Amino acid sequence: MSDLSDRFSTEFREEHRAVRDGLLDLAGSFEQGDLDQARQLLNQIAGLTGPHFRYEEEALYPALVPIFGQVHVESLYRDHDGAISGAQRLVELASQDSLTDADTREAVGLIQSILPHVSDCDGLSIMVERLDDDEVVRIFDARDQCLDAGLDLITWAQEIRKPPQLQPAG
Ligand SMILES: [Fe+2]
Ligand SMILES: [Fe+2]
Repeated sequence: MSDLSDRFSTEFREEHRAVRDGLLDLAGSFEQGDLDQARQLLNQIAGLTGPHFRYEEEALYPALVPIFGQVHVESLYRDHDGAISGAQRLVELASQDSLTDADTREAVGLIQSILPHVSDCDGLSIMVERLDDDEVVRIFDARDQCLDAGLDLITWAQEIRKPPQLQPAG
């Protein structure tokens, strides 16, 4: 473990914490029927997860292929597929004037189906400890670029996202 991978773990954890808290607050907003707050939280979460998912897919996940193999890394991309379609459905639900009980159950169920990816994903940092520092630098660089581009989750997914490119960079 290097200082660099240590810094990565710390920052990665912070990003997941923010998403975790956003999702748990979002579940609370749906449960209370507070759709203004739900819409606001969805925007906030989409702003956080757009760059996060993007640098994971463009740099982190491919770098993990030599460790996990293609099959598991592909499952990480599929988890993102589920999170993206869940987010799109949550936006639809929150755009209504009011929620039925079935809507609320659906929204909370979707959030609960996304949450395990947050904790599973955070665990990847233990594997990042085994990457060479130059690989970790590439991941940080991709993260900076994705943060600069600043696309929210839905915009990125609709306009930029490509099927998995699983050849490790470099
Ligand atoms: Fe993540
Ligand atoms: Fe992820």
